[in-house]
Amino acid sequence: MSQTIEQPTTDNLHEEVARRRTFAIISHPDAGKTTLTEKLLLYSGAVELAGAVRGRKSQRHATSDWMEMEQARGISITSTSLQFDYEGYRLNLLDTPGHQDFSEDTYRTLMAVDSAIMVLDAAKGIEPQTKKLFDVCRMRNIPILTFINKLDQPGYYPLELLDEIETVLQIEAAPMMWPIGDGIDFQGVYDLRNQQVLRFSRTEHGAKRAPVEVGSLDDPKLFELLGEGPANQLREDIELISGAGTTFDYERFLHGDVTPVFFGSALNNFGVEPFLQALLQLAPPPEPRATKDGEIYPIDAPFSGFIFKIQANMDPQHRDRIAFLRICSGKFEKDMAVNHTRLEKQIRLTRPVRFFGRDRETIEEGYPGDVLGLINPGAYIIGDTLSAGDPVDFEAIPRFQPEHFANVRNLNISRYKQFHKALGQLEEEGAIQVLYPFGSHITDPVLGAVGELQFEVVQARMQAEYGVETAIDRLPYTHARWVMGGDEVLPKITWPSNTVLKTRDHNDQIVALFSSEWQVQYCIENNPDVEFRTVG
Ligand code: G4P
Repeated sequence: MSQTIEQPTTDNLHEEVARRRTFAIISHPDAGKTTLTEKLLLYSGAVELAGAVRGRKSQRHATSDWMEMEQARGISITSTSLQFDYEGYRLNLLDTPGHQDFSEDTYRTLMAVDSAIMVLDAAKGIEPQTKKLFDVCRMRNIPILTFINKLDQPGYYPLELLDEIETVLQIEAAPMMWPIGDGIDFQGVYDLRNQQVLRFSRTEHGAKRAPVEVGSLDDPKLFELLGEGPANQLREDIELISGAGTTFDYERFLHGDVTPVFFGSALNNFGVEPFLQALLQLAPPPEPRATKDGEIYPIDAPFSGFIFKIQANMDPQHRDRIAFLRICSGKFEKDMAVNHTRLEKQIRLTRPVRFFGRDRETIEEGYPGDVLGLINPGAYIIGDTLSAGDPVDFEAIPRFQPEHFANVRNLNISRYKQFHKALGQLEEEGAIQVLYPFGSHITDPVLGAVGELQFEVVQARMQAEYGVETAIDRLPYTHARWVMGGDEVLPKITWPSNTVLKTRDHNDQIVALFSSEWQVQYCIENNPDVEFRTVG
């Protein structure tokens, strides 16, 4: 392979890497992710007024059939990554859609971040989607900061929430801030590290930054300020957690073994600023990344990066596809010639773009941690690696367990070829998983999706882009497991019932589809020698 090696200019590379923080927010719908995002943008000065993100949601134009469909359902069109500066740091916030547009993309995005913020609703604790996203973060042991939101409303007692995090997620929870009062009495937080009382003042609709008054726990005026009840409760709580609570350890946080916990109300701006400060201090800058031949360091190598997401039809006029690349090492410059490892050829990155909401702008340069949008139909699939130096192969992005399944039937037999081409391409792009059943009366391909909306998106795209009309019939399966060991182990497996559907994925790996968690557990317990994996 011929190549022009463009060495990074190391003069400012070090500095640029050190100030990058690339992270995502994981939460269950309605916990407050959008509100917290808005407030992070507000505090950083990236937007003037709270409501900007939400405003964009409603100003959106329907730009294609399936976007129209998404709009009708009130789903956010993802902006994929927001970049903004705060106190000299450059933050890249990668979007993890959580409502109906929850899909495998949401999981894959977590492969491209260096840390995550977990937002919990104080009245709900750990909810199903939080747990799923947390498990994906766990696979990479990335550091996670926890923000417990909606303290302005009645919720669980803080210690109960910490206990729930520890027992359900199996991660230690170390409080960094402690709430003072709750519900309408929520007045502020005690900063355990700096031993300071931070009292918030309410602002109208939380549109501006909430003013903060600082005091100490020993301040004789504390009783007067907080009221006797909350002041006593705070002293008691602090005594209790100082003696028996989990303490924060930075190294263990970096390995994902302990999560620092913050309390606040995103809507009222309470606790948002101290949380943002902690994010800057604690979240790590881009770190070395594993390749098939060892690790690549952000500052010691020429430009490299991998594709973690492909979004189709962002501009229906061009029916274009944008591939999103996370830079892992070196400096990126527009028009750079890079090696495309899978295609074994050199390409020039002429029009890299960045998005803010639905606006796009051309990027001139980028550094590790940044996300580039590349317009190039068909050239990329999920996991592709680009590099300015020797070809690099980052570790593959796994396929995640689908939870919704459907048969897809071609309604026009004469378009047989197009039907299979469409399925192949949509699978490669990562829009859906295509599984081929065997040993069953079910013979049509089975589509597997993490989020239900994907079926409709795929059906609409097959019609619009490939001229293939299809029927989608939902199947009753809810769980998938990759069966390790291939065809050899199949005859030895004791199945819970003959309703388990055996399929093959695009790599010819065997994937078993189950209709309940009980069936999966039965299989695991009765076949101790066989490994059933949740990722492929
Ligand atoms: P999401 O992105 O995680 O789905 O949540 P989002 O921020 O959209 O918040 C979900 C709902 O919770 C919103 O109310 C939002 O205003 C509210 N919320 C967020 N943070 C807080 C908080 O600290 N305290 C309280 N009390 N509520 C909070 P909504 O009525 O669904 O939407 P909207 O009419 O406010 O836009």
